[in-house]
Amino acid sequence: MTGLDRPRRLRRTPALRRLVAETTLEPRHLVLPMFVADGLDEPREISSMPGVHQHSMDSLRKAAVEAVAAGVGGLMLFGVPRPEDKDASGSQASDPNGILNRGLRALVQEVGGSTVVMADTCLDEFTDHGHCGVLGSEGGVDNDATLHRYIDMAIAQAETGADLLGTSGMMDGQVAAIRAGLDARGHIDTGILAYAAKYASAFYGPFREAVGSSLQGDRRTYQQDPANRREAIRELDLDLAEGADIVMVKPAMSYLDILRDVADRSTVPVAAYQISGEYAMITAAAQNGWIDRRGAVLESLTGIRRAGADIVLTYWATEAAHWLS
Ligand code: PBG
Repeated sequence: MTGLDRPRRLRRTPALRRLVAETTLEPRHLVLPMFVADGLDEPREISSMPGVHQHSMDSLRKAAVEAVAAGVGGLMLFGVPRPEDKDASGSQASDPNGILNRGLRALVQEVGGSTVVMADTCLDEFTDHGHCGVLGSEGGVDNDATLHRYIDMAIAQAETGADLLGTSGMMDGQVAAIRAGLDARGHIDTGILAYAAKYASAFYGPFREAVGSSLQGDRRTYQQDPANRREAIRELDLDLAEGADIVMVKPAMSYLDILRDVADRSTVPVAAYQISGEYAMITAAAQNGWIDRRGAVLESLTGIRRAGADIVLTYWATEAAHWLS
């Protein structure tokens, strides 16, 4: 056949493929989410996330050093308090000696100069009812009362030296409230990584085990409906207007269209969170020999980058960074 357009010509050799690859995946694009649990002497593996651990303070430091040696761009820390330390307002979240703030100080001390330290700024790990905010008299999550708690939490986190605060609660006005609260205390250089579009997803299941969540019910009155696309743009515009430094889409793999919409419109860097259920699915299939683990992980991360993510949060960050360097 002559006169045919032949795209295969550029796929013929590894050198040609390398020359024309559009999407890059580098260690610096990856952020490792980590869990630090109060009262642990040894790391404890999360059964629904084989290979991911709740860390003790010691193992947290070690894993952070390993991640940084592999070249990851950042670390995102979640705290797991003792069940008896949870209460209705999640008071441990804003206590400088709460597990998350102690963990953040350890990370800043250990690797602060060499990577970006991020904190999860949300109450759900710390509330005895497991919601991301405080409850109002009707039993629903009270948006504006929650903002006051977020401000206190953000100030305590800024004081640990964390670089970026990940506002994952999906309360209206959370970015503006936290920005104003930080600025009023002089924390003008502490940035906000805003979860702009966060969907009420079934794929968070393993995370709820990872943080020992107490949640009964669901988060559909504050997280977005998976059916909606325009709403993500509305949330993005609000977060940008409120002062977000980076915006995030979460989950990643079932929301690549949303990620593309957000990336096309955002004036700040865009992150995507490959969440616990996405990790669990690939891990389980690979353990059964049904898919090639490394191939599937790298393909999923490349797809998330191709859809528009500058930054990808993934539980494979350290391992993938090793593969990539
Ligand atoms: C809530 C929060 C969740 C995750 C990160 N922050 C879960 C939820 O909304 O219940 C999920 C992360 C994951 O599944 O890996 N603050």
